[in-house]
Amino acid sequence: MARETAFTMDTSSIKFGAGVTREVGQDMLRLDSKRVMVVTDPRLSSSPAVETAMSALRDAGIDAVLYDKSRVEPTDQSFRDAIDFAVEGRFDGFVAIGGGSAIDTAKAANLYSTYPADFLEYVNPPIGSGTPVPGPLKPLIAIPTTAGTGSETTGTAIFDLVEMHAKTGIAHRALRPSLGIIDPDNTRTMPQMVAACSALDVLSHAVESLTAISFDQREAPQSPAYRPAYQGSNPISDIWAAKAIEMMAANIEEAVFNPENDDARSAMLLAAAYAGIGFGNAGVHLPHGMSYPVSGMVRDYVPEGYPPDKPIIPHGMSVILNAPAVFRFTAIASPERHKWASSLLGYPLDTDDPEEIGEGLAQATIDIMKRVQMPNGLKAVGFTEADVDELVQGTLPQERVTKLSPRPAGEDDLRNLFLDAMTYW
Ligand SMILES: [Fe+2]
Repeated sequence: MARETAFTMDTSSIKFGAGVTREVGQDMLRLDSKRVMVVTDPRLSSSPAVETAMSALRDAGIDAVLYDKSRVEPTDQSFRDAIDFAVEGRFDGFVAIGGGSAIDTAKAANLYSTYPADFLEYVNPPIGSGTPVPGPLKPLIAIPTTAGTGSETTGTAIFDLVEMHAKTGIAHRALRPSLGIIDPDNTRTMPQMVAACSALDVLSHAVESLTAISFDQREAPQSPAYRPAYQGSNPISDIWAAKAIEMMAANIEEAVFNPENDDARSAMLLAAAYAGIGFGNAGVHLPHGMSYPVSGMVRDYVPEGYPPDKPIIPHGMSVILNAPAVFRFTAIASPERHKWASSLLGYPLDTDDPEEIGEGLAQATIDIMKRVQMPNGLKAVGFTEADVDELVQGTLPQERVTKLSPRPAGEDDLRNLFLDAMTYW
């Protein structure tokens, strides 16, 4: 096998600061868009963030049309609905306001309205054909209202393919927003559990990109067009991931329990973007790959502060519930990197023994989970040992990310990982 010898560093432009949502009209004009689809979800439709953005666009003379039907946890159908709206509307630009779901929906609407194709054409293999995006897309400005996904910096759009019960996505650097407008005013009203889950998503993005297989251990692509956005850890993504871990660890409790603390909230939002730049180029691995069936197989769990009638295991929660078990398993493949991650989290380890390092990083993660009141493992959100086979089957198609694990994980390994994730303390 010929090994990869190159890596790339791609990211969106970033504008950061309290109140910068007001500049979106000028930004869109600079990108030369005159008729814009504004994608958000129904809950945010009359939020200050959306109102500010709509009036800024209209003040700049832009014909802005609101589409407020993006779905939290999008599906192929909700993507298709947004795509149909985009095709009919003949837009020359997009603005997305919301969490990762709204931003991902706008990426899909932009892609399929610009380069129409069968829905599975650009979807990641083995589920879709994974055809590379043919060329540049229309300008997309992303305005996050949660501090977790980093979707404003990445070329990934995740959705549920309902008939296959599978979470999958589209990943290509051309999907990246032209600009991420990161405005701490937009995250002031995040409920506590939403803030905790998104902060732990940041933790996992950053530790996963730091511990992912190195870019030069991957097989070389058949041509540069097939070089994946998720390339494995590399010298540039390391810098962003490492800094993100430090910022997240220093601010998580304040940002979750005291959202009035502007400095802590701003730092978490910036940490989310830093982690996004890191994992947008390096990738994530097992905690994310295993999280998709965890979220997808929810039965009746409803976290505190979420609507009581809709069972959900939020993305950041489903990721972090797997993370300690994974770090115990992967430490042996790159003990120095796992030790580094633990120390960046504020838990320096005084050992060179790979097993002790794995346990140390797992315990550091568990301690942070406890500090922000996460449930104690998969059992606490409704799973039992009887679910493990199905969880494993749901992880196998997530090859795009699981293959970036520094230690390959086969079916038996995944089974043991899910068993280890059942209860932590
Ligand atoms: Fe994530």
